[in-house]
Amino acid sequence: MPLVNMKELLAKSDAGFAVGAFNVSDMEMAMGAIKAAEELKAPLILQIAEGRLRYSPLELLGPVMIAAARKCSMPTAVHLDHGRTLETVRLALSLGFTSVMFDGSHFPLAENIEKTREVVTIAEKFGASVEGEIGSIGGAEGDMASADIKVTSVAEAKRFAEETKVDALAVAIGTAHGNYKETPHLRIDRLKEIHEALAVPLVLHGGTGLTREDFRHCLENGITKINIATASYDNSAAEIKAVHKAKPDASYFDFSDAICVGTYENVKKHMEIFGLEGKAALYN
Ligand code: 13P
Repeated sequence: MPLVNMKELLAKSDAGFAVGAFNVSDMEMAMGAIKAAEELKAPLILQIAEGRLRYSPLELLGPVMIAAARKCSMPTAVHLDHGRTLETVRLALSLGFTSVMFDGSHFPLAENIEKTREVVTIAEKFGASVEGEIGSIGGAEGDMASADIKVTSVAEAKRFAEETKVDALAVAIGTAHGNYKETPHLRIDRLKEIHEALAVPLVLHGGTGLTREDFRHCLENGITKINIATASYDNSAAEIKAVHKAKPDASYFDFSDAICVGTYENVKKHMEIFGLEGKAALYN
């Protein structure tokens, strides 16, 4: 199965599952995510956020992600998460990313619409799809400035979707990036209203730390893509520490394996929760 467009992956997910979009920062994390997809026969989205490029320059990691997706026998999209600048969006597209997110949520609505439209026009030339964001998801993905939660309004989401023609829309319903300091209060009521008012696939950010029950409510009310980052980073770091504890003379390659295993375990766990097992068959 070749590298696929994110739009195609999301088009089938109203059948009671959501496609997991897993952030990766190196080859080992990409390998771990792919291993999980192969084992569960699940579709996959590999992504990296602009706020993480300080550690993993896009010119270097991007080609690795594309090669990993091509190597995977399950349908896999490669996505730029939280793109902030047109320069990074263009670079991702020219490297072959099949979708980009433009996060203009910190701009006033009209400006967010205008800038996102520009990204849609650029992405069209590459045959790639675009995710936008309306409202404000809490916390920060990497080096981004931390944001407060501003729950997405139905009217703004409708206007944004109609005027930008994005292929996917990230909505703020009470989740935040990173580990939760307090139990999140999810606005499933608002998600339901947005889903009823809009035809565009909806995206949930800030997946780390949500319960199975939270995910189930989101799946049942229109979420078709779920982003998971921190849980993979944390599980990989925990795996490295466990290897070091069990084997004080561990080599570089033991730690490299540990990153892969930590990501694999976390991706597999979330793919099962998102109902993805066996769903790659839908794309044949
Ligand atoms: P978490 O780090 O909370 O899993 O959020 C991931 C995310 O939304 C990436 O955009």
